[in-house]
This record gives sequence, structure tokens and C-alpha cells, in this order.
Amino acid sequence: MPPQEIIRRKREGFALDDADIEFFIAGLTSGAVTDAQAAAFAMAVFFRGMSRRECAALTKAMTNSGRRLDWRGERLGGPALDKHSTGGVGDTVSLMLAPMIAACGGFVPMISGRGLGHTGGTLDKLGSIAGYNAAPDAALFARALREAGCAIIGQTDELAPADRRLYAIRDVTATVESIPLITASILSKKLAAGLDGLVMDVKTGNGAFMSEPDDARDLARSLAEVAREAGLPTVSLLTDMNEPLASAAGNAVEVRNAIDYLTGARRDPRLHEVTLALGVEALLLGGLADDAATARAKLMAALDSGAAAERFARMVAALGGPRDIVENPDPGLPPPAPIEIAVHPDRPGFARAIDTRAIGLAVLTLGGGRTRPRDDIDPAVGLTRIAPIGAPAGPDAPLCVIHARTEEAAGAAARAIRLAFDIGDEPPLIAPAVIERIV
Ligand code: URA
Repeated sequence: MPPQEIIRRKREGFALDDADIEFFIAGLTSGAVTDAQAAAFAMAVFFRGMSRRECAALTKAMTNSGRRLDWRGERLGGPALDKHSTGGVGDTVSLMLAPMIAACGGFVPMISGRGLGHTGGTLDKLGSIAGYNAAPDAALFARALREAGCAIIGQTDELAPADRRLYAIRDVTATVESIPLITASILSKKLAAGLDGLVMDVKTGNGAFMSEPDDARDLARSLAEVAREAGLPTVSLLTDMNEPLASAAGNAVEVRNAIDYLTGARRDPRLHEVTLALGVEALLLGGLADDAATARAKLMAALDSGAAAERFARMVAALGGPRDIVENPDPGLPPPAPIEIAVHPDRPGFARAIDTRAIGLAVLTLGGGRTRPRDDIDPAVGLTRIAPIGAPAGPDAPLCVIHARTEEAAGAAARAIRLAFDIGDEPPLIAPAVIERIV
């Protein structure tokens, strides 16, 4: 069936056969399907949706569009585990959780992405470390994984190339927020990475792609069911993104925050809650702990003993970065951008609500994210000391501190941030960071 017939069938609301889906994805990979046809297909799926069976077939076809890694031959000596988030602001979890799992006996071959829209990307954060090679060849990737127990790199041309192409088209055709398309996109990369278990952090709230909890819940169920059917044990946690997850948002500032977390110098409470909850699930999935209490104790021991920080340092060194990033972050990371201003609210009170998307966009417009795919990002800009919901704010308690390249950029970000905070007279009730577990 020609691609336009497959698109027409989906546009009319019919279910696609596995063979149609395989044919379309093969064309996407080979180039036989044009960008226009891929965009039309994505829009048809966006409006018509897909059954679980169709979504599973799409996931399988995208997984098989490239190479599949197989860690069994590497004799790692532990389960290959990973965590993936659907995207948030101040979400540094991967930087800490990968070495924490490694310190508990797991191996984390993490294929991570660049920032998307208003959300930050793990790859961009690691890109702020001098010398860090996020695009190693297969041999270096495997060596780093063996040496450190974790290796965080970017998607290569070989892994799920159909997703790489479709994703780039979705990004610029307003077709990102589709449950079957997100499911197939995320899981095709994870299935190609040869994992034994996956923990999904599905965000909901005003800084998430799925702002409504019911939509996020549907996405979590879709991910868990399609992954399980494909033989990848997966647990999803629904987590709150109605405020930045941590006190820092940007690139180098988030790496510094992750190092502070690993050393214990500073641990933002919500970041800690989500990191531990995801870590517990990962250890249970990998058979590295028998119950949640044991898993939690192991993760805390990995932090307290310095073992997780040491794994992070080993990973950075193995991938070409400085050897002493944990003890001495300064030479390896750019200094915060030169214009530093504290933003104060128009009136004193308590942070009652935060427009998280606006905070992410403020980082982006400071230069910490992209407005076009090929844009360079400025790793040194960002926000620190972001007040969480419930915190007092006033002349002595800023909403955040801006690190900007120019006075104009700092001024524009300060205006956006003041608007993003709703200040009230009383502290509000604090919502839990982890909302629900979905399997
Ligand atoms: N992350 C992905 O990798 N794909 C999506 O579609 C959305 C988030």
C-alpha cells in the first residue's frame, strides 16, 4: 500500500495492520517516505490515536529500524537498567541516579536526549563539562559502562534511526503530545539499548508535556503495557511538575547541583524524593534488592559512602572529562554567566504557585536552550536558588538568582520570573512530588 493510502486510512480512523506500519517505518528509515508524508502520518495519529496493538507494532518497527545493543556478550556482571523522564524543568535526576544505581550493582547504558521545548536535556547538561564525549563509538561506550557502571550518551545514528527522523519532524509540526507517538519514540530507543529493566518518570503539571494527570496516567499505562509486551519490564512513576524539581535550572548550574547532591553538600527535597523513588524501582526491577526498604537503604548508603559520587567521577573521566570533577568542579565547568541578579517579588509573601513552563522558557531565552535545532546553547546561563512552592519570598528571600550573559537578557528573564510566581499571604499545602506508581 503506498504511504498516502496508509495515511488516508489513519486519517479516516481505521486501525492499521502491522504490515502497513512496518512498511511506513521502513520508508521513513530509507527515505522513501517524504518529510511531508511523515508529518501527515504524525498528525493523523495525533488526531485519531492508535490502539495498543498498533502502538506496539509502531514501537517494534521503530526499534528494528536500527541496531539493537546486547549487553549479554559484555558480561557486565549485573542487570542493564535505565530511567527515562518525559521532560521537566530542573530535573537533574539522571545525573545522580545513574551513578547511584551503578554503585548498587546495576549497569546503566543511558541514551539521553537534548532539551526539548521548554524542558532541559541531560545531554545538554553533560555537554557543559569540558572534554565530555557524549557521542563515543560503541567500544568506548561499552568500556565506560564497564569501568563506571554507568555511561550517559546521546542517541547515535545507529539506534532507532526512524525515531530520530520522525521525532525531528514532530518537533516542528506540533505533533509531540501524542500518547502512541511518545510511547513508540521513547520505547524504541530503550528497547534498542538492550535493557533488562526500565523506570519511567512520567511528569504531569504545568511544566510537563502532559499537563493533565489523566493524560499522564494514560501515557504511563501505555508505556508500561507496550514495554512489557516487548519483553522489557517497566515501572512508571507519575511525578509532579507544577514547580521546578530543584533549585537550579540551566546546564552547568544543574551539573553543579547534581555534584552537590552526590557529595551531600546540598539536596533539594523534591529532587531527593523523586530520585530515591525511581532508584527504589530500578533496584527492585534489577533484582538488586528484595524490598523497597532495602533498596532505599542501599541507595542512601551509596550516597553516604561517596560510592555514587565516585561512580559519577569515573563516568566523566572515562568519557573524556576531567578526573576530579567531584572534588574540583570549577576547571571542568564554565563559571556562572557574569551578570548575576537576584529577583525579588513585587510584594512579600509565600510562593503559592509557579508557572513552571515559564521558568523553563526563561532559561531558554537566556540562551540555555534552543529555538532552532542547530542553535548553540550557552552552558553558563541559568537560574539558581529557585524558591519552591511554600517558600517565603520578599526583600531578603529572592524568587531566584539569574545568571545571564547581558543586562538586557537578565532584565527580560527577571520580568518573566516575577510573572511566573503567584505570591500569597499564607503558605499553601505542599503536593507530594511522587503521585502514583503505575505498572
Ligand atoms: N521523549 C522522547 O524521547 N520522545 C518523545 O516523543 C517525547 C519525549
